[in-house]
This record gives sequence, C-alpha cells and structure tokens, in this order.
Amino acid sequence: MNPNQIAIVKSTWSDAISEGDAVGELFYKILFELDPSLKPLFGDDVKEQARKFTAMITFCAYKLNDLDSITAEAKELGRRHKYYKTTEGAYRTVEKALIAALAQSLGASWTEEAASAWGQLYLTLENAMLEGATV
Ligand code: HEM
Repeated sequence: MNPNQIAIVKSTWSDAISEGDAVGELFYKILFELDPSLKPLFGDDVKEQARKFTAMITFCAYKLNDLDSITAEAKELGRRHKYYKTTEGAYRTVEKALIAALAQSLGASWTEEAASAWGQLYLTLENAMLEGATV
C-alpha cells in the first residue's frame, strides 16, 4: 500500500468507528444478508463477534506502517479460521460486506479511492490468513 492509501484507510476507519462497534454490527448484518448460510457458523452473540472483528481492523489500521506485524497477526488469525470452516468463496463475501459496511457508514465521504485502498488492505489480510491456514 502506498502512503496515500495508508492515510485513507486510517482516516476512513477512524470515522467509521466514531460510533464504536456499530460498523462491525452493520458488517455482520450485511454479511448474513449476502449469504445466510454463514450465520450458523457464528455463535449467538453477534455484538461480541463484531467487537472482535472491529478490534482486528483497528489493529491493522494502526499498524499500516508496519506490514510485518499485520501479516504475522493475520497468519495466526488464519490458522484459527481453519477450524471455522472458511472457504475461499466466503472470503469474497466477507470482503463485499466489509466494503458495503464502510460505504454505508461513511456516506458521502466514501470514494473510489477509499474502496481501492481498503481492497488492498483486505487482499493483504486474506493472503496472510490463507497462508496461515496451510500450516
Ligand atoms: C479478512 C477477513 C477476516 C477477518 C479480519 C476476520 C476476523 C475474525 C476475528 C478477529 C475473529 C475472532 C476470533 C479469533 O480471533 O479467532 C473471527 C472469528 C470467526 N470468523 Fe473471521 N475473519 C475474516 C474472515 C472470515 C471468513 C471468510 C469467514 C468465513 C465464514 C470467517 C468466519 C469466522 C467464524 C466462523 C469465526 C468464529 C465465530 C465464533 O466463534 O462464534 N471469518 N474472525
């Protein structure tokens, strides 16, 4: 990611979490609308799950200048996801839900440039998670 993309992800995420974990809850709402078959994989406490997901993205947003620490964390996360029955197709749906949740919470300040910067971060996370799932 280039410095401009890093700055965009940091500032859009800080806007998105100005209302706490709401963006994470929106993410799961959209995710289960896009693919209802994913819902049973998650426990009943979506708020708690949203908190964990939001915390992971916050960690990434803070560490964007230190990609090695993001990939190390994402590999560990990916290793755990092996047991969560994740498929490559599900990674696409998660990406769509994340982008849609960001777009909805950011409203008019969401741009094509922001979508592309987030796409880059997601790709980095996904690749590291898939790599972690192979070990
Ligand atoms: C970049 C993509 C993703 C991120 C950042 C992410 C993040 C997380 C985090 C932080 C947790 C909390 C538990 C832990 O740390 O192990 C979690 C749990 C989980 N994730 Fe993901 N995840 C991603 C992709 C996916 C995908 C593609 C699926 C596919 C179905 C998935 C399904 C699950 C499930 C089933 C759980 C456990 C829920 C439970 O224990 O109730 N995740 N994820």
